[in-house]
Amino acid sequence: MQIAQDKEQPLKPVAQLDHRYEGIAKVTGKARYAAEFSDPFSKADLVYAFIVQATIPSGSVNSIETTSADRAPGVVSVITPFNAPRLAQGPPQPPARRSLTLLQDTSVAYNGQPIAVVVAKTLNEAKAAAALLKIGYTPQPAKLQWEKRLDEARWPKNPGKDSAGNHRGDINLAFAEAAVTVDNTYVTPIQFHNPMETHATIAWWQGDKLTVYDATQYISGVRMSLARSLNIPVDNVRVIDPLVGGGFGSKGSMWSHVPLCAMAAKVVNRPVKLVLDREQMFGLVGARPSTINHIRLAAREDGTLLGMQHDNVMNASVLEDFVEHAEGVSKNLYQSAASSVTAKVVETNLGVSTYMRAPGEAPGTAVVEIALDELAEKLKMDPIALRLKNYAETDPSHEGRPWSSKHLRECYRRGAEKFGWAARNLTPGQRSEGKWLVGHGMATATYPANRSAAQAIVRLLPGGRLFVASGTQDLGTGTYTIMAQQAAAGLGIDPKKVEVKLGDSTLPIAPVSGGSQSSASVLPAIQDATAQLKLKLIDLAISDAASPLHGLQAADCDLRDGRLVSKSQPGRSDGLVELVSRNKNQPVEAQGHAEPGEARDSMSTQSWGAVFAEVAVDRHTKMVKVRRVVGVYDIGVLLNQKTGLNQLMGGMTWGISFATHEQGIVDAATGRIVNANLAEYHVPVNADVGVLDVNVIGIPDLKFNPIGSRGIGEIGITGTAAAVANAIYNATGKRVRQYPITADKLLMS
Ligand code: MOS
Repeated sequence: MQIAQDKEQPLKPVAQLDHRYEGIAKVTGKARYAAEFSDPFSKADLVYAFIVQATIPSGSVNSIETTSADRAPGVVSVITPFNAPRLAQGPPQPPARRSLTLLQDTSVAYNGQPIAVVVAKTLNEAKAAAALLKIGYTPQPAKLQWEKRLDEARWPKNPGKDSAGNHRGDINLAFAEAAVTVDNTYVTPIQFHNPMETHATIAWWQGDKLTVYDATQYISGVRMSLARSLNIPVDNVRVIDPLVGGGFGSKGSMWSHVPLCAMAAKVVNRPVKLVLDREQMFGLVGARPSTINHIRLAAREDGTLLGMQHDNVMNASVLEDFVEHAEGVSKNLYQSAASSVTAKVVETNLGVSTYMRAPGEAPGTAVVEIALDELAEKLKMDPIALRLKNYAETDPSHEGRPWSSKHLRECYRRGAEKFGWAARNLTPGQRSEGKWLVGHGMATATYPANRSAAQAIVRLLPGGRLFVASGTQDLGTGTYTIMAQQAAAGLGIDPKKVEVKLGDSTLPIAPVSGGSQSSASVLPAIQDATAQLKLKLIDLAISDAASPLHGLQAADCDLRDGRLVSKSQPGRSDGLVELVSRNKNQPVEAQGHAEPGEARDSMSTQSWGAVFAEVAVDRHTKMVKVRRVVGVYDIGVLLNQKTGLNQLMGGMTWGISFATHEQGIVDAATGRIVNANLAEYHVPVNADVGVLDVNVIGIPDLKFNPIGSRGIGEIGITGTAAAVANAIYNATGKRVRQYPITADKLLMS
């Protein structure tokens, strides 16, 4: 791993923590996740809820016979559509999903939909009783096999953007003038989020006040969504989640089990714990939809792109349109005179689709970057040369708006050098080592840099310790660590002296930890809070008769390396410990907030990377080994070497998974997820990953935010899949356009 800092870096480097803030607690088992709390209620009161799921894909429940379950050992309550408390009239209001299924009616929209909740003294008793329910259905014909019903594709109802596609220039002219074209269809599969920590909720009521521990990427979002789905005042809801065991978008919004857990707690008048088991992660809490991408590229002989056409069709739940904007990258990844992109959905009796790590860009780069590789081959051009030929100096999707900062060229150069790209064989299938066919491929990575309004609080404590808090989340990504660093930097103290609190909706509000935006949103708020604190501390010192700074002008005072000093008389200074001690050990507190400025509308903010992969493919069995991947990313300042590179590494690993492993399989007859477990839904283990070489350019993006950093939660998964796919082609000469690229496809193609 290498960090290349810009030589003229204008920022004073922030002191980094060597290890994760919460690392010791995690490795010693002291860290507690949502399902592991047993206070402040009495542990003896806690009961367990289990969700009962529909076994038909479409129709309605006409009866649920509960007599045996009611009498089963330990059962406290069986809640069905026929006895559930009635909620507010009408569907839940945003941000709660309208598609939540809260036992308010008997309709079934997908196999696996919640249709009852069993509450018992133990989880096993709840599960055993659930098996005793006799459920009668009236089935309806189900809409499945979307890939055979592409003629039913329609525009999304609530697409958010590009409701009728997005068109620039004259795409027909581009193809009329082209010397070389590519015209193929590329498919990405349904993928399911599988964070180590499954979704989990503990809910309890004190009168009309509801508190929940909930595994979520968005505590204040769950707070609002719970209030709006249960029709209770938002002030009556508190959501707590100090540690999240991964989220990847699945925990970015609230799903049915959360209000169902709160409902159960109300019904039984006790605290209730509801943990989804691994199988229940496949369907109830979102998925990345499958995308079928018809991509056409038009180019001149010299490689100049004249047109990019990208028509994307995906499955969407009959409950809700969610659009996976894979086609989005065809608008802004390269300079092209014309572009035409569309996204359409095919209704399917499946659970709702949702955001999954790098929504849009992950499948988008996976497919477009194969198409670019195919174009390079037809042009007999080096794939990097083709990308440089069409380098987007400004944002083509926003009429040439400038980028806040873009150093993609440097990513290609450094990546090619580190990887040894020059030695690659342009002709596929040429290189072998014994039984292994060896191939090299590359692709571009990209993800937008997002930022939202956020608040934070800092408090100088006795003894020189500092407290910092914000209502944000840490998904295992390093939020605690970088918050400690930023607060410490603001006062010029050691980051080890900082105490961090997050994950509680009573704290100052921060956005969803999604869209790679937490660091870029929360750190500027902390920077503002420490600036406010500094002013307060100076005021305190100059008005304190016992302070060496007493009587000075505030403008003459500064905070340097953890001491208040006079600028004009450097001999006069006051220590923070002494100042608080003389202040009767009263903590000094300040609040801060930050939001994206006007710059947001005048420039485009985006992160970039170049990914290179070497694969070896068994000549006979076609088993693929990803030997090594080099990624070089332009993500602004790297905030913490360990947590930051670890994030990118996790993303690259998922990219390998995207390329060669992951695929949710839906039973064509029943709509059941066939491989709803981690034995058959393949994800990589260490032996599948090979060597990951993660690098960042490290040039601060100060036009984006005062910290100079862009989020890194998602970009790591982009680019890698196509780099691996292109390497497999380079090794074998077989072009597979349907992910994941498994041995069967290589054998049969
Ligand atoms: Mo990310 S898919 O926005 O959690």
